[in-house]
Formats: sequence, structure tokens, C-alpha cells
Amino acid sequence: MNIQALINDKVSQALEAAGAPAGSPAAVRQSAKAQFGDYQANGVMGVAKKLGTNPREFAQKVIDVLDLDGIAEKVEIAGPGFINIFLSKTWLAERAEEALADERLGVAKEEQKTIVVDYSAPNVAKEMHVGHLRSTIIGDAVVRTLEHLGHKVVRANHIGDWGTQFGMLIANLERVQQESGEVSMELSDLEAFYRESKKLYDEDEEFAKRARNYVVKLQGGDEYCAEMWKKLVDVTMVQNQHNYDRLNVSLTRDNVMGESMYNDMLPGIVADLKEKGLAVEDDGAQVVFLDEYKNKDGEPMGVIIQKRDGGFLYTTTDIACAKYRYEQLGADRVLYFIDSRQHQHLMQAWTIVRKAGYVPEDVTLEHHAFGMMLGKDGRPFKTRAGGTVRLADLLDEAEERAAKLIEAKNPDLDVAEKENIAKTVAMAAVKYADLSKHRTTDYIFDWDNMLAFEGNTAPYMQYAYTRVASIFKRADVELADLTHPVVINEEKEQALLSTLLQFEEAVQTVAREGHPHVMCSYLFELAGKFSSFYEACPILNAEEAVKQSRLKLALLTANTIKQGLDLLGIDTLERM
Ligand code: ARG
Repeated sequence: MNIQALINDKVSQALEAAGAPAGSPAAVRQSAKAQFGDYQANGVMGVAKKLGTNPREFAQKVIDVLDLDGIAEKVEIAGPGFINIFLSKTWLAERAEEALADERLGVAKEEQKTIVVDYSAPNVAKEMHVGHLRSTIIGDAVVRTLEHLGHKVVRANHIGDWGTQFGMLIANLERVQQESGEVSMELSDLEAFYRESKKLYDEDEEFAKRARNYVVKLQGGDEYCAEMWKKLVDVTMVQNQHNYDRLNVSLTRDNVMGESMYNDMLPGIVADLKEKGLAVEDDGAQVVFLDEYKNKDGEPMGVIIQKRDGGFLYTTTDIACAKYRYEQLGADRVLYFIDSRQHQHLMQAWTIVRKAGYVPEDVTLEHHAFGMMLGKDGRPFKTRAGGTVRLADLLDEAEERAAKLIEAKNPDLDVAEKENIAKTVAMAAVKYADLSKHRTTDYIFDWDNMLAFEGNTAPYMQYAYTRVASIFKRADVELADLTHPVVINEEKEQALLSTLLQFEEAVQTVAREGHPHVMCSYLFELAGKFSSFYEACPILNAEEAVKQSRLKLALLTANTIKQGLDLLGIDTLERM
């Protein structure tokens, strides 16, 4: 149950009954401090101002008609006209029982929508770089959350599998195959292969000629070129899949919907935009001039959708892609997890999409942008030699570091278990470090921080789970054995439970805003509340009824942390 939404509704009704204009915002928020209750309604002041009445007096009127019978045990006015709401302990306890009995922990499903999520999107014959890592991790967490809420999610891996670079890549692949005399190929180092292709293209005239010829042939549907192209895509995606699997990212080969997929749509799009009067010829190219964007001279910016030589552009593809997602996939919402430097590109493409009427206004096209991943020195994340960091190397290093840590912490575990723990902690650390930051800002990649057992980190959260779960092991009980109800007597119990029941609010916020850090902050706060509770309220030594009630709170905490981490794509361990 979303308690915030429930109370917001109730306060909205009361506002109206007290004379506020219909639709006045109740602005109910979680209270920042226990002394302000569990929730706070902040909407009264704004309404009173509009009505020209005294806000505290108006707040009293609202409270007089506010119906929170059985839900709140105390409602009071604070400061200039805030309404503080203290939830009833009995009511909270009932909600706890409900959540415990439900494998969804009381989180309701939403009305189902078809949601397309564009994420990861690496480029063929290139290593996945750190930007793709961010998109992959953040996108996958949001995908899991949306699916959990009951939506039909289409994972769209918009890989860069088209463009003139394929001429040189095919020509080089051909050369490699001829030299090794094999039909199959070994391209373990894609980045080097790409660089080599580029070098040959720049320095060898014969090679360049062949490459240009292959581009034309590939675009013309030539079978040999198509086959070579497919090999390049395959090798790349096999390597990427290995990274996805290691990271427990839910993408598979079936989710690939690369740029090439839209190729056949492009001539039609250009023709249609011309017919609609949106595209005009300018110096041989097809251009859409947008009043919304001005160039340096203050004139409408021209967005090229077809070059003079007939070639199409990244923007043309994204126009077709948005159209496809609405028309063919039936999207109600499309989320794009792409770094912030591509914002203008997307806005231009979508402005054209809307003008052409390809996607109706009520279908949202959302750019969920993120900043750059930086090294400890505050500069773009690179290897010591200044090159791109291979994702696989990064994950290897994470595992090595985690293994040392686990060895130091728990030398007595057997080798296989230690290895498993190290792997789980390592992948979680890399993911959580990214997920826990507000995605729109740049973030500093720092091994020591992400592997720390203190602070808002994966090891801390995983350890918190293990600790809570171990209380159960020591009690040696199951939920069915706990026949006494949840009873709240202590302040710390109430604080813990109130936070536990905010899980749904966190899940829904992540789904709505595409901000997984909201879940991380929530879980971190929850773990903190549990620690304070555990310090103040002994569990195993308490008398039976109290012990059972507290064990239930502990169980709900463990389940909530596990499910929350699971929605982020992070595994938990029973022992670490
Ligand atoms: N492949 C692109 C890149 O590496 C990202 C594609 C994002 N998706 C899209 N629909 N444009 O930058």
C-alpha cells in the first residue's frame, strides 16, 4: 500500500471540504524527523494564501474535517500551518502483517502499460565503454522495477550496427580471415581491430577503395557483405553478453534492436517529411529547420536528415526508431537511458517526430540522461595509459579486490564459497556505486569507496541483509511459527516499521522518474533504522510475545532489503 498516496488523497478531500479550490495540492511528504510525525502535509499554506485567510486557522478547519480514523493517532498543526500526521501503531502493525503475508510485500501492481526501455546500446566492433556501463546498469534497474509493477517492458538494445565504418571493418575482417586461412575468427580485442581497420583505411589506398565499395554493397543488400557484417555483430554481442551475464543484467541477444533495423524506413521518412513541408532541400541535403533551436546567428537550426550523397544520419534513425516503437511495439512510454551529451540530438529528433505526428503527445518520449564517469582525479575515466577501460578488465579488477577483502574478513570459509562471495560483492559494488548516485551528475569511480563496508555501498547493504537474516537463523523459526501479532511499543520499532512501509513509495518513484538512487537511499535509510532498532530493542532475549513481534519486524526488514536489492539487479548472500 502506498501510504503517502492514501494520506495525500485524504488531505486533498479535507482541503476541498474546508473550502479550498478543487485540485489544490495537499503536498503530503514523508516527515524528515520523528517529532514531525510520519507524514507532513505542506499544502495548507499555499491554499490559505490564495484564499487570503490565516494559514493556521485554515489548517485547523482542514483537520476538523480530515478523516484519518483508524489510520492516524495524532494530527497536529506545526509552524506556519504544516499538518503533522502520526500514524496509528495498531494500523501500522496491521499493514506489517499484510506485507509479511504477501510475497510482493504489499506492493500493488500498477495499471499495465507497454514501456519500451532503450539502454546499454554499445557499438559494434568497439569495446563497451564506461558510458555504456552506466546506461546498462541504470536502465536494467529501472526495467526490473517496471516489470515488478506489472508493466509490459520491451528491452531495446539500440546497438550501433550501421554506418559507413562497416566498409573498413568488413575489408579488414576479410584480410584477417585470408591471413589466418580460417573462416571463423578470433577478435578478442575489438578495440585493436577497430583501430587497425581505421589505420589501414587512412594509409592504404587500395584498402580504402575496397572499404568504400563494401559500404555501397552492404547498403545495397549484397549477400557477402551482409554475412561479414553479421559476423562482426555476432562477435561483438557474444562478448557483450558475457559482460551482461557477469553483471546479472537481464539483456539477451533477443533484445538487440540496432540502428540497422530502421534502415528500410529511412527513405520513406525523408519523403514523408518533405511532403509534409517539414524537410526542405538545402545545398543538396535534406534539412528540417526548427524554430525551437537557434543557431549562433539566432536563426532556426537546420537538422540534416539526409546528406548530399544520399546517406542518412543518426537523427534520421532516431526519428524512425521512435515512430517504430509507437506504431509497431505499441509503446505507451519510451525511456531512453543515454548520456547527457546526446540530449540535444534526442530533442531535435523528437521535435521532428512530434511535428510529423509520428507519436501522439500522450505517449511520452523520455530522455533519462546521466553524467560522465570520472576517475579519482576528476577527469574522464581512462586507463593509466589514457585509453578506454575495457569493461571486462574493470570487472576482473573488481573481483580481485573483493577477493582480497573477503579473504581478510573471513579467511576460514572454504575456497569455493569465498570465491562466490567475492564475485557477488564485486559485481554488486560496481553496480551499486553507479545506482546510488543521482544519475544526472558526473560520478567519481573510486574502488575504495565502492568496496567499503561502511556508508551507502553494496557491501554495507549486502552485509545488512546477511546480519538481519542471521538473527532468524539463530532464532531457528519460520514465519508460520510466529503466532503473536506485531505490536509496536517502542519509538524505534515505530520508526523502523514506518520506514518499512514506505517501500512501495520508493518502488513507484523509481518507476516514475527512472532514478534508482531513490531505492538505494531508501534501503540505506532502512538499514540504519534497523540498526537503531536492534540496538534499542533486544530480540532474542525479549519475552515471547515481544520477541515474536520483533522477529517479524526483522523478517520484514530482511525481505524488503532483499527485494529492493533484487529490483536493482543486486544479489544478496546468506553469509559473507
Ligand atoms: N550507440 C549509441 C552510443 O554509443 C547510443 C544509442 C542510444 N540510443 C538511441 N536510440 N540513440 O552513443
